[in-house]
This record gives sequence, structure tokens and C-alpha cells, in this order.
Amino acid sequence: MANAFLDAMFGLEGQVAVVIGGTGVLGGAFCVGLAQAGATVVMSGREEPGIDERLDKLQAVAKESCFLPVDVTKRASIESLLLQTLEKYGRVDMLINAAGVNMGCDYFEVQDEDWERIFRINLTAVHWGCQLFGKAMSEQEGGGSILNIASVTSDKPLSRVFAYSASKAGVANLTQNVARELAPHQVRVNALAPGFFPAIQNRPLLDPERTDSILSQTPMQRFGEPEELIGAVLLLLSRRAGSFITGATYYVDGGFTAMRF
Ligand SMILES: NC(=O)c1ccc[n+]([C@@H]2O[C@H](COP(=O)([O-])OP(=O)(O)OC[C@H]3O[C@@H](n4cnc5c(N)ncnc54)[C@H](O)[C@@H]3O)[C@@H](O)[C@H]2O)c1
Repeated sequence: MANAFLDAMFGLEGQVAVVIGGTGVLGGAFCVGLAQAGATVVMSGREEPGIDERLDKLQAVAKESCFLPVDVTKRASIESLLLQTLEKYGRVDMLINAAGVNMGCDYFEVQDEDWERIFRINLTAVHWGCQLFGKAMSEQEGGGSILNIASVTSDKPLSRVFAYSASKAGVANLTQNVARELAPHQVRVNALAPGFFPAIQNRPLLDPERTDSILSQTPMQRFGEPEELIGAVLLLLSRRAGSFITGATYYVDGGFTAMRF
């Protein structure tokens, strides 16, 4: 049922969104959610199998949407994604920084190359996205909105994922800092911190023991479904509904971060 009030609050008609990491489990759900709210979506990520099917589904909802590849380990690749987006659509209203990698091991086994790779993808690339897209948004009429994907481990360090935890704490910190810088330029910057949503990057870590531990510390006693993040994504990105929200890290975690022992 059409509802003019909700359309005005959350509708993204005529706006262009770039989702870096849009080929992943959560990023894929973000792409579809944004398209259903009316946005034209640039699904971006590494070239990998299954992109054509994902793009077909996305274009069935928002036909002008497209896939553009990016390798977030390279600043020039993110810059090229921005330039291609501007060339194709003329502007970019929203960016979601959702690329991320993870790995688990004992602390004394952490290798420098893994630490550096995780930090580069999870934190340095988020900075590059904010800086490059934030500048372009600041130079266009109407500004824009950026959403960085943090984690419950931005707040609570998680065992065995040391670089991941530290990088996600950095994402929440960077989000606040960049939000302050870009606010005068009509660009809002927020973070979404999901709890536990089985996906490609974390499935190998979710052995039965860790699963029991997570669920026993989650008041809702279950994992999340990617679609359960969409409401918060729309709130934080929407020009109208989220108009006074910046620098926030919003937790969608079944209550995980509400628990203190
Ligand atoms: N799934 C969860 O429970 C959970 C919880 C908290 C935060 N997160 C975060 O959500 C985001 C999405 O993760 P997901 O769970 O959907 O994982 P996923 O593995 O399904 O998706 C990760 C995405 O990152 C992209 N990516 C990785 N390296 C890249 C590179 N070098 N260049 C470009 N793209 C690259 C992949 O192509 C993929 O699209 C990540 O930042 C992750 O840390 C996930």
C-alpha cells in the first residue's frame, strides 16, 4: 500500500547509491533494499562468479543499476569507481563502505601480512571511500550520505579476530571524526554495526563452540538475517528521515552489545 508520508521520509527515488562490497552477503541485501526504496544502485566489489545473476535481480527492481568492479586495496581503484559513477549518473548521493575480510587464530599466531591486509581492506579503504566520495558529495548540490559498516566488535573486542576487532573499532572512531569534518559540507557520515549474520567472511569462524558462545550472549538467541539490517540502512542514509543523524554508530545485533557480564 502506497504511503506518501513513508515515501517522503525514506524514499530514495532519483538518488544514486554506491555499495562497495555490494557483491557480498550483507552488501547484496543493502543493494536490493536501496533499489526497493527507489535508488539507482552501483553494486561494486571484486569480479567474482555469480555477479550476472545478482545484477539481473537488482535490475529487475531498479533497471538503471549496474555492477562496477573495485579492488579496495588500491586507492586508485576506488577513485576510478567514483569517476565511472559520476560519468554514468552525473552524481552520487550515497555510499556504503561494506567490503570486509576476517580471519581467526590464536594471538601468538597473528601474522603481519594478515594484519596489514585486514586493516587495509577494513579500515584504510573506508578512509579512502570517505575521503574520495565525501569530497565529490561536498562539491555537489544537496551533499550526500555515507554509511560505514562497523561491527559489534567496534564496541566489544572479540576473541581470535584481533585485527578485525581493532579495524572495526577504527571504523567507528573514523566515522565520528569524518562526520565532524564533512557536516559543514552537507555530507552525513554514520556507521552501522551488525551483530552476527552468517556470511562468506565469517562462516569458517562459526564453529559449534563459538556459535553457542555467541548465541548465549545474544538476548534474542539467534543470528540475524541480512534483510533485518535494511530498516537501519534506510534510516541512516535517507536525506529526510536521517537528516540530523551524523557520527552515529547504530547497533543491530539482537541485543549482543546490551549484555555486560
Ligand atoms: N556478517 C556479519 O555477521 C557481519 C557482522 C558485522 C560486520 N560485518 C561487516 O559487513 C561487511 C560485509 O560483510 P559480509 O558479512 O556481507 O561478508 P561477505 O564476505 O559476504 O562480503 C564481503 C564483501 O567484501 C568484498 N571485498 C573483500 N575484499 C575486497 C577487495 N579487496 N576489494 C573489493 N571488495 C572486497 C567482497 O567482494 C564482498 O563483496 C564487512 O565489512 C563485514 O566486516 C559483517
